[in-house]
Amino acid sequence: MTEIAVAGGGLIGLAVAWRCAQRGLSVTVVDEASGTGASFAAAGMLAPVTEAAYGEEPLLQLCRASLQRYPGFAAELAQASGVEVGLRTAGTLVVGFDEDDMRALSALHTFQQELGLDAERLTGRESRRQEPSLSPRVRGGLHVPGDHSVDPRALHRAMLAAAAGAGVRMVRARTEAVRVESGRATGLRLAGGQELTGDVVVLALGAHSASLPGVPPLPVRPVKGQILRLRGAAGLLAGTVRALVRGRQVYLVPYAGDRLVVGATVEDRGFDTAVTAGGVHDLLHDAIDVVPGVSELELVETLARWRPGSPDNAPVLGPSGLPGLVLATGHYRNGVLLAPVTGEAIAELLTTGTLPELAEPFTVDRFRR
Ligand code: GLY
Repeated sequence: MTEIAVAGGGLIGLAVAWRCAQRGLSVTVVDEASGTGASFAAAGMLAPVTEAAYGEEPLLQLCRASLQRYPGFAAELAQASGVEVGLRTAGTLVVGFDEDDMRALSALHTFQQELGLDAERLTGRESRRQEPSLSPRVRGGLHVPGDHSVDPRALHRAMLAAAAGAGVRMVRARTEAVRVESGRATGLRLAGGQELTGDVVVLALGAHSASLPGVPPLPVRPVKGQILRLRGAAGLLAGTVRALVRGRQVYLVPYAGDRLVVGATVEDRGFDTAVTAGGVHDLLHDAIDVVPGVSELELVETLARWRPGSPDNAPVLGPSGLPGLVLATGHYRNGVLLAPVTGEAIAELLTTGTLPELAEPFTVDRFRR
């Protein structure tokens, strides 16, 4: 049986592992602390439309394809694991604060319309009708009914259980290098001198992917995000609220129960872990400007992690250039959203030898041409 060694037990590594095991491959995932990286920090927005940006249309198509899969993916996971993943389908509201913010929202709406995406322009009053806790100073918004959210920590628990149920083995260790013999990846070298052999190695180490010895040059870098979790938000918001507050972006994502996530900074500072006074200040300041009731909530968690950024903000999927090494990394702001389509695409590649058409634009070759 083909042996697959997956480096990285975050949402992407587990999605790949689960789908590969379901197709009859023998899979081992290596992670010294599975689910404590970007998957732990993520807000869980499933938001192809509100994340859409000029020049990123191929990424938008991949994101939409993955979003389409989410209801089935969540239901299958819940059945396999017994864990509900908190899929929330109340849509997303993007609001603006001052005149410049409203101009930016208009430009975003025009772009969305050009692409035929579903987004409705709202006045300030209509926005507040939708989310009554919005500040009276909110000038207007865009309602995007198709952008949803999921609880990434519940998702990770569910994936761990589902993967184990499908026969995936977990090894708790730090990956130190890809084992390369005669120009081919043959497994992973682990901390403590252990080795794990594999016919194929899948690199799913997120922001750490490019710095692993043995990996060919890969343009993936850490992009720091500081993010906050608050308690006491039951009933505060129906769905995700994103805002432009005097040019700065903030998002508020409610979870089942009384939790609210407020995020996130975007900082090119390498592997810096500091949660800064300025970062927390800006996020809370903007969140309170948009939803004044946030000031009453209990701040229960602040943390910083790294998104795996790539030059075009899209993931890097498929062959790496080193025989035996397959890439599933670089998901930047869309790791939670792209987990279903990534798992499926890599499992398809490893069982048939062909990357599905929808993943073809995302091979590392696009940076080498
Ligand atoms: N997906 C939102 C973020 O990366 O902050």
